[in-house]
This record gives sequence, C-alpha cells and structure tokens, in this order.
Amino acid sequence: MRTTEEAPARSGTDAAAPPERRPRTVLVMSPGLLDDVFPPPVRARLEETAELLDPSLISEFDSPDAVRALASAEVLLTGWGCPPVDAGLLERAPRLRAVIHAAGTVKTFLSPAAFDRGITVSSAAAANAVPVAEYTLAAIIMGAKRVFPLAGLYRARRTHRTGADLDRQHWLGTHGLTVGVVGASRIGRRVIELLRVVLDAEVLLYDPYVGAAEAELLGVTRTDLDTLVATSDVVSVHAPDTPETRGIIDARRIGLMRPGTLLVNTARGTLVDTEALTGHLVSGRLDAVLDVTAPEPLPAGHPLWDLPNVFLTPHLAGAQGNEVGRLGALAVEELTRYARGEPFAHPVHRADLGRIA
Ligand SMILES: NC(=O)c1ccc[n+]([C@@H]2O[C@H](COP(=O)([O-])OP(=O)(O)OC[C@H]3O[C@@H](n4cnc5c(N)ncnc54)[C@H](O)[C@@H]3O)[C@@H](O)[C@H]2O)c1
Repeated sequence: MRTTEEAPARSGTDAAAPPERRPRTVLVMSPGLLDDVFPPPVRARLEETAELLDPSLISEFDSPDAVRALASAEVLLTGWGCPPVDAGLLERAPRLRAVIHAAGTVKTFLSPAAFDRGITVSSAAAANAVPVAEYTLAAIIMGAKRVFPLAGLYRARRTHRTGADLDRQHWLGTHGLTVGVVGASRIGRRVIELLRVVLDAEVLLYDPYVGAAEAELLGVTRTDLDTLVATSDVVSVHAPDTPETRGIIDARRIGLMRPGTLLVNTARGTLVDTEALTGHLVSGRLDAVLDVTAPEPLPAGHPLWDLPNVFLTPHLAGAQGNEVGRLGALAVEELTRYARGEPFAHPVHRADLGRIA
C-alpha cells in the first residue's frame, strides 16, 4: 500500500510553487461553510494544489455523484459536517490515501479503521487553537480585573464603583498572577506562551504527559492537580474530554480553590462538576468564565445564568467568522505537503487518539 512518503518527491526548492503532482481530491463538508473555510485566496491555492473531482464538494456519501467521487479520490479534504468515515465507507474509496481535516477533532467522524488501512491523517486543530487561546487570555485579563461583576454594577447603578464593590476576598488586577493550566494541549501551550509573554504570569501546569525537560522548555512549574487548584489565582482548563479527564475538577478540588479564584473553562463542560461549582459561584467565593458547560446549554432556570461573577458564552472560543479561514489555509498547506511527498506538519496518529481532543 502506498503511503504519503511514497508519493512523488518534490522536484523544486520553491516552497510557494505549486506541486507538480495534483492529488485527486474531494471536499466533504457542509456546503454552507465552504466559502468561509476556503476564502478566495485559499481556494485559489487549493485549486493549484489539487485536482478537484467533479463534483468537488459532497456532503453525504450515498448519491451517485458521491459514490463516483469516492471511487477515484486519493484525498478527502473534510470539514465540519463531514458524515462518518467508517470501515464500510473506506471500502468504497479504494484509492484513498489521506484525510485532511479543515477543522479540529477527527474523532467525531473518522473510524480508527482509516489508520489500519494506512491512510495518513491531518487535522487543523492547531489553527483552531489560536482563537481559543486568544479568548482565554482575554477572559483571564477581564476576569482578573473583575470586569464582569463591576460592569454589571455599573450598568445597574449608572454610578462609579465604590471600594466596597471590589469585595476584599477577591484579588484585583493582572500583575503577578499565578495561573494554573490544566493540560498542555495545543491550546494549553499557546495559552502558556501568551501568559508568559503578555502577562509575565507564573504558570503552573498539570499534565501527566509532560515531563520535567519539556516543562522547563515551556517555562512552567509542574504540579499535581490538587496543588495547582489550591495555589493558583486563575485555573484554566485545556485538557481534552477523555475517560481520564472527565470530572477531574470535582467537588473536592473546587473546594480546595482559594476565595477569589477565577475558573476559566474553554475545554469541555464534562471536565468540571457543574453542580459543585455552582454552589461556590452562588456564594460568591469563586468567579468563572465558562465557554463550555455540562449540560450545554444549561437549563433555562439554572442559577449560573444570572450571577454577576459568572460570564457564560455559547461555545464560541473556537474559530468563528473570519477565523474559520485559518482552518482551510492550514489544510491546504497540508495538502501541498502531501502532494510533494512531505510528511504532514500536523499529523494525527492512531496511538495518540486516547489522549487528544
Ligand atoms: N471552546 C471551544 O470552542 C473549543 C475549541 C477547540 C477545542 N476545544 C477544547 O479545548 C481542549 C483542548 O483542545 P486541543 O485541540 O488543544 O487538545 P489536544 O488534542 O492538543 O490535547 C491533547 C493533550 O492534552 C493533554 N492531556 C491529555 N490528557 C490529559 C490529562 N489527563 N490531564 C491533563 N492533560 C492531559 C496532553 O498534553 C495531550 O497531548 C479540548 O477539550 C477541546 O475539546 C474547545
């Protein structure tokens, strides 16, 4: 079976030049997203790089058009809305050698059978990490300045804050923060970098997959999770949802957080015990910025909707609007590498599936 490495080698040295071999490619995603994911310059680059099949875009695998495209496709360039790519589907795609996903996780649609077939896989999760890390930095800055409760008071009263509004059990400001990062994931690593460069924060890390040498390179102090939650001003959650991480921010660990600690969750609501957290937020002991919750959305009458010290957003930290074009650009770069016989820069390996998002 031919692999990426066996594809014809690159003949020139000009990284911007289109590859000489244009793999037969079909796009599989929701049609409504196509122009956002592949805005005109990215689309032009895609058309230089790949021989797009006719039809170039499918959103299901059963129509005669889709069956024909699958029979000759070497690359599936997938995106949000791609239907399941399972063992049965792979049988109908005998020439398929690569799946390049212009979005985050592949685990929701791609069967491990693809790896068994020697199909190489790439994902644009690294591009999706950019806006999530930006959102997290913004949340930490706004949370540390207690912008959310103080803006609420300002709106309600139409007068400036008083000293009493600052509530002395909470610290205030971004200087000298200790931030505990749970998971040096793609997003977690970017957050660590922003925290160190922009805020000069001290960063604690809990991640069982990061050793001492790597932690030193990242500029973080490794701790166990209990120490992290008990000694951080901000706890920012960035681990994937796996059997190992579900509920790791449990009632006991939430209880270990000091008064005034800000919890930021942009990962998955399932990592945090929502009901235990709610008690500490209702009492005003903790603050939270939550882009994700469990359940999501919360029931209409849930107390978290109306608390001044809680800022809820509708799972929007990942790529939105013009940020979505980054996903397509990364996917087209990966397709260019594939066409040149180079390895992916953002490969997904079967062995990592248990610990990645
Ligand atoms: N809010 C949003 O819109 C949004 C968008 C994208 C991703 N996410 C979520 O953000 C999180 C991070 O995504 P990613 O793509 O950066 O993840 P990723 O796939 O890069 O994360 C994998 C890494 O997480 C770390 N990890 C794994 N298990 C761990 C554990 N038990 N404890 C601590 N660390 C552990 C390891 O370093 C591992 O390599 C995920 O939960 C993902 O679902 C949210």
